[in-house]
Amino acid sequence: MPTTLGTLADFALDTPTPVTIDGDKFLVIRSSQNPDEVCVVRDRCPHAGLSLSRGPRGGYENGVITCPWHNSRFDVCSGENLDWTPGVAGVTAPRWSRRLIAMGKSPAPLTVLAAEVRDGQVVVDR
Ligand code: FES
Repeated sequence: MPTTLGTLADFALDTPTPVTIDGDKFLVIRSSQNPDEVCVVRDRCPHAGLSLSRGPRGGYENGVITCPWHNSRFDVCSGENLDWTPGVAGVTAPRWSRRLIAMGKSPAPLTVLAAEVRDGQVVVDR
C-alpha cells in the first residue's frame, strides 16, 4: 500500500531521516550523489536488531550506512551487506574475532522499501 512520507525537500542531503510507517521505524536517505531520489531502509540492523540511527558510533557516507554497534556496513539502496560485524562501536576488531562478535548470525541484508518520488512527493510501497 503506498504511503506518502513528505516532499523531497523535507529530506536533507546525506542525513538519514527517521520516519515511522505503520509503527515501524525507517530511515529515508537522500544522497548528494543522486539528490532527486531516495532510498528507504528499516532502522533495524539484521545482525542483532538494534537501531542503525542511535548508538555509540556509526554513520552514513556515499550510499553506505554503518551500524553503530558492531560496524556492519550496508548499501542503503539495495540493502546488500558489505561487511559483517568487523568491530564494536566504531573500533575495528581483529579478523579472528568477527565470528565471536557476530554471535552466530550469518550476514544478512537490510530491509529496504520500494520508494519513488512522484510529483515532488516521496512515496513508499509497503
Ligand atoms: S547490531 Fe548492527 S552490526 Fe550488530
